[in-house]
Amino acid sequence: MHIRDEAPGDEPAIHAVVEQAFRSAPHSSGTEAHIVDALRAADALTVSLVAVEDGAVCGHVAFSPVTVDGAAVGWHGLGPLAVHPRRQRQGMGSQLVLEGLARLRTVGGQGCVVLGDPLYYGRFGFRARAELTLAGVPAAYFQALPFTTPMPEGSVDYHAAFAAGA
Ligand SMILES: CC(C)(COP(=O)(O)OP(=O)(O)OC[C@H]1O[C@@H](n2cnc3c(N)ncnc32)[C@H](O)[C@@H]1OP(=O)(O)O)[C@@H](O)C(=O)NCCC(=O)NCCS
Repeated sequence: MHIRDEAPGDEPAIHAVVEQAFRSAPHSSGTEAHIVDALRAADALTVSLVAVEDGAVCGHVAFSPVTVDGAAVGWHGLGPLAVHPRRQRQGMGSQLVLEGLARLRTVGGQGCVVLGDPLYYGRFGFRARAELTLAGVPAAYFQALPFTTPMPEGSVDYHAAFAAGA
């Protein structure tokens, strides 16, 4: 298995793996694959990585810019993150997250937020922080990982593409 940047031609395979991964996820909106497509169409995929095995895309992670109190501050949102159901719990998701965070740092990202299970994302250094909030979600599930200090304070908004397919 290796991880690489998304390349032209990967789009259908990415759509399929995101759809398959979220099909049985309890908290799925059912729109995650459309969100990835819409982020790409808006040129908002700051980092888009695929995990490839035997030539097939088995996992994907997207990172896109977020705003804090309406301002672009160099922070990004992690997600959607998807691993094909047959390949889950073998470390692929963790490798996608770690490689993606490393890429974000190299392109000048200042930090990253994620909405998800604290038990999963805590292992990468994410934690809920009073400084950054996301409207309408329980505080414990919205987590931040600053790369630099001081971290911004305010209300976070994801890219408009997150409304895609709703
Ligand atoms: C979440 C997801 C990306 C994790 O990828 P992965 O490759 O399976 O994860 P890793 O192998 O790196 O990590 C495994 C650990 O993550 C946790 N984990 C993985 N999948 C999980 C799931 N479906 N539910 C709860 N915990 C899960 C477990 O704690 C597991 O540790 P363990 O094997 O010691 O019990 C993958 O399960 C997936 O695609 N799920 C469906 C889509 C989804 O929920 N995406 C995340 C939205 S926030």
